[in-house]
Amino acid sequence: MTRRDQLLGALEIGPQWTRRQADLQADFAPMAQSPGAPIADQPASADRHTDADIAAMDWDALQAAVATCTRCDLCRSRTRTVFGSGDPKAAWLFVGEGPGRNEDQQGEPFVGPAGKLLDNMLAAMSLRRGRDVFITNIVKCRPTDATGKDRAPTPEEAAACRPYLQRQIALIQPQILVALGKVAAVTLLARDPGIAVSSLRGTVHRYGPLPLVVTYHPAYLLRALVDKRKAWEDLCLAMETRTIAAGAG
Ligand code: URA
Repeated sequence: MTRRDQLLGALEIGPQWTRRQADLQADFAPMAQSPGAPIADQPASADRHTDADIAAMDWDALQAAVATCTRCDLCRSRTRTVFGSGDPKAAWLFVGEGPGRNEDQQGEPFVGPAGKLLDNMLAAMSLRRGRDVFITNIVKCRPTDATGKDRAPTPEEAAACRPYLQRQIALIQPQILVALGKVAAVTLLARDPGIAVSSLRGTVHRYGPLPLVVTYHPAYLLRALVDKRKAWEDLCLAMETRTIAAGAG
């Protein structure tokens, strides 16, 4: 048994599923729209950069800007910002929703139980955090509800954080994006927040010129074991798409 088969077994998602390349190419959907048009530019203050400022930042400046960001109210309750982690020149960009409690404390994305599953998913793809992979989130600060529990970011919070993600993508220049869960998918694709992840799976979308594949969020998969196999199908689609993108590039 290969290491990948062992991992798939551990993920309860074997046997391996693959698609023919011809099917895959036919799946390239026309871009629904250009990636997030900038929100109305905001006046700058000492710790508040305009969208145009952010769009011109290098990696270090961008990290520093995120660390002191006050573009939305999430800055009031955060412990740490979570910029993202990994290879700043990665071919693979995985985008989650937003930091949870563990990530807020450690300043790293996906460090809790969902992060362990994400690491296993990466390993099954012969990928590793930090090596040709960058992981980040739609929002860089932890959203909480009135009782202090994790919650999904609002569309307004996602919009406030969008220039950072746009600049991360522009600087990393990944070959493929993987949207983890609904918030990441609907934000990146500018789709109706009410749409189901299941209806966005199985197609190669576009974020500007880049292919984008949607799969379930690892935290959801921890609760819905039955969908792990579908997530593996999505990752196979992403691997084939990336191979084609690398060949074309
Ligand atoms: N869930 C996310 O979407 N992102 C994280 O970083 C952690 C949990």
